Amino acid sequence: MEYYPEEVWINWLDQLSDQNYVEIESFLPTEIYDSIASFLHQKLAEEAFERAQIGPNTKAQVISEIRGDYTYWLSRSTDAELSSTFEFFEDVRQKLNRYCYLSLSDYEFHLAHYPAGSFYKAHYDQFKERSNRLISMIIYFNEEWQTGDGGELKIFQSEGKEIIINPTKNKMVMFKSADILHEVLITNKPRLSLTGWFLYQPAGLGYLFG
Ligand code: OGA
Ligand code: NI
Repeated sequence: MEYYPEEVWINWLDQLSDQNYVEIESFLPTEIYDSIASFLHQKLAEEAFERAQIGPNTKAQVISEIRGDYTYWLSRSTDAELSSTFEFFEDVRQKLNRYCYLSLSDYEFHLAHYPAGSFYKAHYDQFKERSNRLISMIIYFNEEWQTGDGGELKIFQSEGKEIIINPTKNKMVMFKSADILHEVLITNKPRLSLTGWFLYQPAGLGYLFG
């Protein structure tokens, strides 16, 4: 099923090509948004989130001074109730390939929970040790975010330009993983998101962090 006409995708992906990032309001169709949101709240209630780590598997470690979020990695096989969500992101992968001339072959996604007081210091999403993340994508699930709640995404552009993105409900941000230095500012309220990376090689064996 096509949710957006071709010219809409072309416009979004032109922005991604030109400025290395794109910010889109009301991105997910309602039924996909609702299924992810209810899954997310269910996993939070089950305490299924784990403290996020830094770097690829073998070098992973918890460094509170750098990031304070908790994550739940999504799995196509075990999280079967999200099958329409996976189909939707599969379509996004194909749109990126078609309109940006990429050869993305896979993706990896996690849900993220930043408790009040947490942040993620400035970083790039592409690891030195594992450079297969090409495009980062974040979607926010903060129903009642208001100015002053914090948790904004700060994007560092060239020539010292900084962009502040409010993490409001169903906003999507996509950027080039290797080119965009970015930071999550300290949040004053619990902050919920889905973060994904489109890869130009399969995620592979071994469990992956980031
Ligand atoms: C990340 C990240 C940004 C955000 O998970 O790598 O930078 O706004 N997230 O949640
Ligand atoms: Ni990041």
